[in-house]
Amino acid sequence: MKYREQTIETLKKELKIEKDIYDTVLKEGINIDISRGKPCSEQLDLSNELLTILKDCALPTGPADVRNYGGLQGVLPMREIFADLLGVKVSQVMAGDNSSLNMMYDSVQRCMQFGVMGSTPWNKLEKVKFICPSPGYDRHFTVTSAFGIELITVPMDNEGPIMDVIESLVKSDDSIKGIWCVPKYSNPTGVTYSDAVVDRLASMECAASDFRIFWDNAYAVHDLYEDSTPLKNIYDSCDNAGNPNRVYMFTSTSKITLPGAGVACFASSDANIKDVLEIIKYQTIGPNKVNQFAHAQFLGNADGVRAIMKKHADIIRPKFQAILNVLEDEFGGSDIASWSKPLGGYFISYDVMNGCAKRVYELCKNAGLVITTVGDTFPYGRDDKDSNIRIAPTFTNTNELDKACKILVCSTKIACIEKIMADK
Ligand SMILES: Cc1ncc(COP(=O)(O)O)c(C=O)c1O
Repeated sequence: MKYREQTIETLKKELKIEKDIYDTVLKEGINIDISRGKPCSEQLDLSNELLTILKDCALPTGPADVRNYGGLQGVLPMREIFADLLGVKVSQVMAGDNSSLNMMYDSVQRCMQFGVMGSTPWNKLEKVKFICPSPGYDRHFTVTSAFGIELITVPMDNEGPIMDVIESLVKSDDSIKGIWCVPKYSNPTGVTYSDAVVDRLASMECAASDFRIFWDNAYAVHDLYEDSTPLKNIYDSCDNAGNPNRVYMFTSTSKITLPGAGVACFASSDANIKDVLEIIKYQTIGPNKVNQFAHAQFLGNADGVRAIMKKHADIIRPKFQAILNVLEDEFGGSDIASWSKPLGGYFISYDVMNGCAKRVYELCKNAGLVITTVGDTFPYGRDDKDSNIRIAPTFTNTNELDKACKILVCSTKIACIEKIMADK
């Protein structure tokens, strides 16, 4: 239905129908959370073997003994897996503890405190700014704003962030020191950056010589369907463009094995790795190498990773499809909602009519459905259009997802019809 073309009488009737549905839902006492991208327990069970795999396993002896101190860059077999997945050399990979977000935070902190390869520490500068393609990952934005870094919102389209805007910003402003990117199956839009966007990021002229791309490839292998969407190798693009040190890459096994006990990865040029290790050596004597070794045993190699990812996809694909089917049935061809149809990753990005997302959030919350706080997908929690809602389908079971969809649909209709009637 094109809601905006309806008469007030028709809208009133529709509103009454939706409010009746909402009232029946209220009585059910629902309590469902689709706000965060967490694997469900069936997905976690895929990695249960990790908990026992070292029991009968011969551990390396001597200097490579994973039970002992040392090994600042992580264990070799795990670094080999990451190197293969990211398309870089093993020397360019550091394997860490369980959180890549932690590695990103530490990276920002190092730049602030120590600078980058001898540059002025960022916290000694009057102003530091970061570009934030949006909608994006809320925790990126909060990491940088926690350090007092100013966030610049840049819109995205189906190819990634709008490069014309970024190029003109970074060319003239040397206080812009970085950009957050989720280049594959982006959180929340599901967009994978096009080759042209990757090349332009790698080759653009930057006023700041210590500008860094924070390339968070969290969903590098998280395909929902048989075919994987290709992503151009940004390290190679940077290297070819004469900017080999421009990119800091991150990923982790959080949504491959266990988010609470996985292995994170930082990868970059050999020179950047050297720069970082020089600082990290005062911070730690080494990561949890026992866990890294267990992961390497469990996953085997990059093909082992791809094999487990197919099992994840089989579990979560029906959940995505269930939501997408409902949205298509209810809002296909309507003028009040549009949404992404992701081929991978963990989210559906759902846009309701401008000025209605907060009201949808409130209605959902009162009916027992928690969705991501509206605004969180933008810097400073500000969605100027009040339109974007992030849906995370993976954690809940299909039965609960049906109920969640029912609440989301009638909340959307109520919020939008109310707004259209008020505007008329
Ligand atoms: C884009 C993105 N990066 C990083 C993370 C967190 O990664 P980790 O568990 O490795 O800290 C998430 C989690 O949802 C994410 O969506």
